[in-house]
Amino acid sequence: MKPVTLITGASAGIGAELVRIFAQHGHELVLVARREDRLVALADEIAAAGPPRPTVLAFDLEKRDTVARIATELAAHGLEPEIVVNNAGFGLAGAAGGLDRDAQLGMIDLNIRALTELSLCFVDSLARHRGGILNVASVAAYLPGPGMAVYYASKAYVLSFSEALHREMSHRGVRVTALCPGPVPTEFQARSGMRVDRSQLILTLTADRVAQIGYDGFMRGKRVVVAGLGNRIAVALLRLTPHALLLPMIERHMRDPRGSS
Ligand SMILES: NC(=O)c1ccc[n+]([C@@H]2O[C@H](COP(=O)([O-])OP(=O)(O)OC[C@H]3O[C@@H](n4cnc5c(N)ncnc54)[C@H](OP(=O)(O)O)[C@@H]3O)[C@@H](O)[C@H]2O)c1
Repeated sequence: MKPVTLITGASAGIGAELVRIFAQHGHELVLVARREDRLVALADEIAAAGPPRPTVLAFDLEKRDTVARIATELAAHGLEPEIVVNNAGFGLAGAAGGLDRDAQLGMIDLNIRALTELSLCFVDSLARHRGGILNVASVAAYLPGPGMAVYYASKAYVLSFSEALHREMSHRGVRVTALCPGPVPTEFQARSGMRVDRSQLILTLTADRVAQIGYDGFMRGKRVVVAGLGNRIAVALLRLTPHALLLPMIERHMRDPRGSS
């Protein structure tokens, strides 16, 4: 079986940039997301630059049977994961009690259930190839998020789960890294219904920069990679601030981000 790097959420944003970086470093790729046309265009771009053409799997990871179907497809192509990059995810802005409940449960299915299943499903092949798992969490993992409660909680799960796996899997030679970006301008903001927050410009990094930082940290075997100095300082401050102080500040900020448009 040929070892591959499987990247979810490869059709846009941080995921598409991770695809470009992994391809530049010689990894043979499998791209997963729902929009097949985007994946095919990216696979064509990679192949035109020289590396082998990535395999495209257009699947909806919110569906319960998708990871099993991915495993079947990989086996049918003679492929097995050496690295799994769980990047697909989305958020929804608004009070949890007022947002659509099914959409929020779908977010849990993608951000948590699919990520967990993909992290556990291929452990034997990851260990055989001494590969690993790169899970995309967020700076949001470090605090509760009134105004985006389910999303923040889902990222807290990703961080906690990935740190524990880092420890559990190290004795099998499998590296596990949680990548925590701060704000990154992608399709994420429009899908989540967030307003543009100019006060966070100082923390903002481009998707290609975040992907490069994530790749470098993962290859060095880091447990957690917070992207960018500003976000590392923010995380350090967040850890020192009592939640009783933080919660009303976050809630106010979500409702009325300074300089929003
Ligand atoms: N942007 C930020 O400010 C930011 C900050 C911190 C963390 N993050 C995290 O970074 C990751 C990537 O986000 P991004 O900013 O790059 O967002 P993005 O531009 O919206 O890209 C999200 C990717 O996930 C895929 N996806 C969404 N729903 C899916 C589903 N049901 N099944 C399969 N694939 C699905 C999308 O592809 P399809 O629509 O084609 O399926 C797309 O490729 C997410 O986990 C996000 O939580 C983002």
